[in-house]
Amino acid sequence: MKVGLLLAAASAAIANPLTTPRALPNAPDEYSPANVTCPATKPSIRSAASLSTNETDWLEARHREVLSPMRDLLKRMNITGFDASAYINLVSNTSNVPNIGIAVSGGGYRAMLNGAGALKAFDSRTDNSTAVGHLGGLLQSATYVSALSGGGWLVGSVFLNNFTTIAELQASEQVWDLRNSILEGPDHKHLQLLHTASYWDDIVDAVHSKRDKGFNTSLTDYWGRALSYQFINASEGGPAYTFSSIALMDNFKKAQIPLPILVADGRNPGELLVGSNSTVYEFNPWEFGSPDPAIYGFAPMEYLGSDFSNGQVGANGSCVRGFDNAGFVMGTSSSLFNQFILRLNSTSIPDTLKSVIASILEAIGEANNDIAAYKNPFAGYSHTNASISSLSELNVVDGGEDGQNIPLHPLTQPNRHVDVIFAIDSSADVNSWPNGKSLVRTYERSLNSSGVGNGTTFPSIPDTNTFINLGLNKRPTFFGCNPRNLTGPAPLVVYIPNAPYSHMSNTSTFDLSYSDEDRDAMILNGYNVATQANSTQDAQWAACVGCAILSRSADRTGTTLPSVCSDCFQSYCWNGTLDDREPGEYEPTLQLRTPNSPRPIVPYKPAGPLMGRECFGVLPCSRKSGQPRS
Ligand SMILES: *[C@@H]1O[C@H](CO)[C@@H](O)[C@H](O)[C@H]1NC(C)=O
Ligand SMILES: *[C@@H]1O[C@H](CO)[C@@H](O)[C@H](O)[C@H]1NC(C)=O
Ligand SMILES: *[C@@H]1O[C@H](CO)[C@@H](O)[C@H](O)[C@H]1NC(C)=O
Ligand SMILES: *[C@@H]1O[C@H](CO)[C@@H](O)[C@H](O)[C@H]1NC(C)=O
Ligand SMILES: *[C@@H]1O[C@H](CO)[C@@H](O)[C@H](O)[C@H]1NC(C)=O
Ligand SMILES: *[C@@H]1O[C@H](CO)[C@@H](O)[C@H](O)[C@H]1NC(C)=O
Ligand SMILES: *[C@@H]1O[C@H](CO)[C@@H](O)[C@H](O)[C@H]1NC(C)=O
Ligand SMILES: *[C@@H]1O[C@H](CO)[C@@H](O)[C@H](O)[C@H]1NC(C)=O
Ligand SMILES: *[C@@H]1O[C@H](CO)[C@@H](O)[C@H](O)[C@H]1NC(C)=O
Ligand SMILES: *[C@@H]1O[C@H](CO)[C@@H](O)[C@H](O)[C@H]1NC(C)=O
Ligand SMILES: *[C@@H]1O[C@H](CO)[C@@H](O)[C@H](O)[C@H]1NC(C)=O
Ligand SMILES: *[C@@H]1O[C@H](CO)[C@@H](O)[C@H](O)[C@H]1NC(C)=O
Repeated sequence: MKVGLLLAAASAAIANPLTTPRALPNAPDEYSPANVTCPATKPSIRSAASLSTNETDWLEARHREVLSPMRDLLKRMNITGFDASAYINLVSNTSNVPNIGIAVSGGGYRAMLNGAGALKAFDSRTDNSTAVGHLGGLLQSATYVSALSGGGWLVGSVFLNNFTTIAELQASEQVWDLRNSILEGPDHKHLQLLHTASYWDDIVDAVHSKRDKGFNTSLTDYWGRALSYQFINASEGGPAYTFSSIALMDNFKKAQIPLPILVADGRNPGELLVGSNSTVYEFNPWEFGSPDPAIYGFAPMEYLGSDFSNGQVGANGSCVRGFDNAGFVMGTSSSLFNQFILRLNSTSIPDTLKSVIASILEAIGEANNDIAAYKNPFAGYSHTNASISSLSELNVVDGGEDGQNIPLHPLTQPNRHVDVIFAIDSSADVNSWPNGKSLVRTYERSLNSSGVGNGTTFPSIPDTNTFINLGLNKRPTFFGCNPRNLTGPAPLVVYIPNAPYSHMSNTSTFDLSYSDEDRDAMILNGYNVATQANSTQDAQWAACVGCAILSRSADRTGTTLPSVCSDCFQSYCWNGTLDDREPGEYEPTLQLRTPNSPRPIVPYKPAGPLMGRECFGVLPCSRKSGQPRS
């Protein structure tokens, strides 16, 4: 681009940073939560026994909105012998319309970019995505999109910027510029508008404005503010953008776009977080809460930070708005990464700022430097267990810390009735590739159905050695194909693991900056992974995705799917075979021959502060010991 154009674009952005409207900057006092007059019906906590009326009302509209994109999608998928129009007409006014969820895993920028490739492939607005063998329209047909950690940066970027496209994010002058590390701050494409020091000064000021109102803050507040500069297209990273404002967007209200859900875990003082008993929280545009027995309640998102006690805002309690800052929510879901801030010491920022960081650390202690502090909305709430309801503050951490690095939890809740989940896995299990471990964790948790699983069912998942030995981590695999082999209703899971098609996409979780070329190569690889190189690896792939979408619905309506579907299930369904022998080193090479020469695998960066921690799906681990590699 010419320098003159660049200047024009940049000054236009300065003059009017709100040229592209998006979610709303509707917080009362920028980053700082503020007391407001309570609404006529005071905010309250509701039991998790059913879905919110917000969601059930919205679903009614969404189920109508998906009919036309789904009809078109299924027609394009060329499922020989299947009349898509007739089928959609048949089920259109019933609960038999296929209910589709998409789940995007964590794993830092690697997960954001690989996930972006999948979303780009699923989005009918992407150029050529509705061509033969592509999957465009799946996003428009989906009801739910869940994400956590790095995946949450992706889903946050899309929904907070008015459901923008991946191509627009790539082309943007304002967001998704990953060339500068987040520690340095954005420079708006060559125009150093913001110095690193003033960037951090602004961040510190914002966080202090919250602290000064009496709210506990942590590294996650700083992290969330920093993330916002990269992901929210507004000046200073849109300090007034709230997550709940997504619910006020026209296209969301009309149910023209899917429901975004971010996931985080609970880890209160003294708790050890393990997958089999973790408390999993969700953030959706209306609510924050958890259906797990430990909480079993939901609080209105817009009024987080209010004085809830016993499930109500009492007569003398104040109503607070602006706590649900959009960057803070994204930062909470990715709090494991807030330790990147500790690397500020190795940059050239002023010492004053370094000492701010040092004092935060002193206040919270190393062991808790990954938490986000939420004023406890479930204090005294009757359904919440006593040890949590007695706390004044909830500690919430990265959604991947319990090892369930794919955000399946909200999509496996029985009252959501999801039929099929497209699970995009960018975990770093072995050499920064996934090996199914996240699915194993979710499966194990579901086995404790009367406890933490609380009635959820999940398909049988083999051990991680089997994943590698059978190649289930190299190409898409379906789990739970046969509903008769499940202990209760559960979705079919279409597992889509990150794999090297056109690019070695196992980049280190510690890569804090990407050139535009590398960023785009990661996204294109993700597109190729999801589409199996536009069905060039298997000409039936698009049809098989259609069969997966239809599977549960056809079962309910007693419809026999055509033989192409039987073939698909034969080739893509895991059939129960196990091979748990210790596999050799997993070092896959590029699956596609492309004109671009492959980038060599980059060895892991040396140990930083992150390396002292346990090994989670979001961080690279060595294969045997489960300890971080050095
Ligand atoms: C959001 O995007 C839609 C579709 O592109 C557009 O029609 C609408 O005007 C946008 N909304 C805002 C608030 O910009
Ligand atoms: C809100 O009002 C309460 C008194 O009702 C006061 O204690 C509190 O400090 C106020 N909070 C803020 C953020 O202004
Ligand atoms: C969600 O439902 C509650 C209770 O019915 C209502 O007060 C609130 O306005 C709804 N939220 C939105 C964003 O529509
Ligand atoms: C649809 O599938 C049939 C056979 O399965 C094939 O002959 C035909 O070329 C396909 N059409 C398209 C547009 O791919
Ligand atoms: C579905 O409902 C709409 C209106 O609610 C109606 O026009 C249509 O005929 C119904 N379709 C079927 C197949 O019942
Ligand atoms: C879309 O397809 C056309 C025709 O095959 C091609 O010229 C164009 O480059 C493609 N666009 C993208 C984004 O791949
Ligand atoms: C979860 O299990 C671990 C290990 O069994 C235990 O130490 C921890 O206290 C449990 N946490 C909760 C919240 O129950
Ligand atoms: C960073 O530098 C400050 C001041 O130079 C020092 O007090 C602090 O301990 C350092 N923090 C870390 C995490 O190394
Ligand atoms: C889920 O947990 C709640 C709260 O402990 C309980 O009331 C409910 O019966 C449980 N549901 C199932 C299906 O186990
Ligand atoms: C698949 O399609 C996309 C978009 O049209 C294109 O950019 C990409 O190169 C194609 N992949 C292969 C392997 O041809
Ligand atoms: C099950 O899958 C394995 C490979 O994953 C294959 O070798 C075996 O033949 C399959 N069994 C049946 C009954 O299809
Ligand atoms: C069927 O269920 C059994 C028992 O839960 C399980 O061991 C087996 O792996 C399941 N088969 C498939 C294909 O999921």
